[in-house]
Amino acid sequence: MYRTKTCGELRIANAGEKVTLAGWVQRLRKMGAMTFVDLRDRYGITQIVFNNEVDEALCDAANGLGREYVIQLTGTVAERSSKNANLPTGDIEIIAEAMTVLNKSEVPPFTIEDNSDGGDDLRMQYRYLDLRRNAVRRNLELRSKICFELRRYLNDHNFLEVETPILTKSTPEGARDFVVPSRMNPGQFYALPQSPQLYKQLLMVGGFDRYFQIAKCFRDEDLRADRQPEFTQIDCEMSFVDQEDVLQIFEGLVKHVFKATRGIEFTEPFPRMPWADAMKYYGSDKPDIRFGMKFVELKDLTEGHDFVVFDSAEYVGGICAEGCASYTRKQIDALTDFVKRPQIGAKGLVWIKVEADGSIKSSIGKFYSEEDLKKMTDRCGAKPGDMVLILCGKTAQTRKQLNELRLEMGNQLGLRDKDTFAPLWVVDFPMFEWDEETQRYYAMHHPFTMPNKEDISLLKSDTGAVRAYAYDMVMNGVELGGGSIRIHEPELQNLMFELLGFTPERANEKFGFLMSAFKYGAPPHAGLAFGLDRFVSMIAGLDSIRDTIAFPKNNSGRDMMNDSPAEIEQEQLDELFIMLDKEKIASKK
Ligand code: AMO
Repeated sequence: MYRTKTCGELRIANAGEKVTLAGWVQRLRKMGAMTFVDLRDRYGITQIVFNNEVDEALCDAANGLGREYVIQLTGTVAERSSKNANLPTGDIEIIAEAMTVLNKSEVPPFTIEDNSDGGDDLRMQYRYLDLRRNAVRRNLELRSKICFELRRYLNDHNFLEVETPILTKSTPEGARDFVVPSRMNPGQFYALPQSPQLYKQLLMVGGFDRYFQIAKCFRDEDLRADRQPEFTQIDCEMSFVDQEDVLQIFEGLVKHVFKATRGIEFTEPFPRMPWADAMKYYGSDKPDIRFGMKFVELKDLTEGHDFVVFDSAEYVGGICAEGCASYTRKQIDALTDFVKRPQIGAKGLVWIKVEADGSIKSSIGKFYSEEDLKKMTDRCGAKPGDMVLILCGKTAQTRKQLNELRLEMGNQLGLRDKDTFAPLWVVDFPMFEWDEETQRYYAMHHPFTMPNKEDISLLKSDTGAVRAYAYDMVMNGVELGGGSIRIHEPELQNLMFELLGFTPERANEKFGFLMSAFKYGAPPHAGLAFGLDRFVSMIAGLDSIRDTIAFPKNNSGRDMMNDSPAEIEQEQLDELFIMLDKEKIASKK
């Protein structure tokens, strides 16, 4: 036996026991005749004491240890004279009697401590060492527990776990595909799944009724803190259900996981908000409703005062920042710079302060009387001490900018507490999204989404107005998951492909197998997929989903540890009949 106990489990009640531990040397301190070693494994840290006066050879051996050496240690548990209240094992230490060095270690490139001195890149390059750090390990432990609880809940609700292929055909989820050449089928490529969407629908045709999978998905898209090229979905599908059934089941799942992993109980039903309201009041399809500061439309109050900026704008909207009348000129300038950043793109920022005595001050005081300005602040619900911030321009664009400003004010006012969780269903998404560049409609969710029954007559006449039976689960401004009721009639699915600009030939080439399956009795079905990485990151209160993944990629999609993607041998290319355009590649580098 390598060990009889772990480094996290010994307590004062174990005093006097002879134990064998195995682990890594976290730290070594010499104090007079004594040498102290902190021994670490996955479960914790235990202090070992070597006494030069009792066993000189053993103490010498301990003095020769380095950081991250792997050792096996036998000794007797003893009560410590100076206890460490910060460690669960802090009441005891082990008086060493025998030690075996199982493996030496080079000096690690960064300290394996909670506050490591290693930068991001270095820690990613040596991720196996980073994984030894408490914070990283804890996130992965939480991920494992979340998966376990998900499986428990889904199993209790009759869901079957089924795996679907990774080498597959492109699914239209909106991103670029990662493709894999096929040696046996020269010139042909598999696509890695952006999600198992079509397979899960086919499982419903296959009669599986309730399916789930913790599924790897691959999307070649621009990366952000909440996006990885390779990520994991909790992918689910159900037959013979309507939207209400789906929302109930998955609301139950979120509630179960929060309770089981963090002891947080959501007692109320999750609020629901139509997409149109989310855009109108928050300028985002994933509003952070931990705080108010809803948008207030002011266009009618601003008109006719010769203020060209507002008069020429399609939309004028404001938010009320509570307690911000005390903002200095410098702070307001910084906010103006914030909204003018190219990523946000506002032209300027207008402010109206309601001073403590109720008087009004404003950057547009030249154009509007105090009475006019008061009408605006009243509509925004501003009290003495508050400040109203106003942006204007094209409606959709200004709402997006106001969303950024609202979130920034939420940050500045400390309204976005990581331990507060505000779930929300966003429902009634539009079916289609118009793309100016290509001058055509795209499916907002995906082409298999069922249009709202009430809007079916508009499909051809007023395509943009059609709502879908599609829903997103949003929490604290993050889209945790999304899904829809699916089309299960071939005629409607064909019409949808037509509206999305697929010729019958191309629709057949891409989705022929689905359309063929639909000819043989497809049940009504619906589903949803959560992003597991985002789910874990939300529960753990992390800023990036990278920290929930054992071996993540960096922002350029690279694995820093094994340095992939990488070139392959000419022989491999030849086998696949692939010729690289070396000139073009060189010009890209
Ligand atoms: P959707 O594309 O909305 O829906 O994806 C579902 C959820 O997956 C997560 N997600 C991601 N997480 C990390 N990195 C990414 N690049 C990434 N992309 C998406 C999000 C998102 O809410 N097949 C449909 C689901 C369905 O209709 O049932 C789908 O994939 O949390």
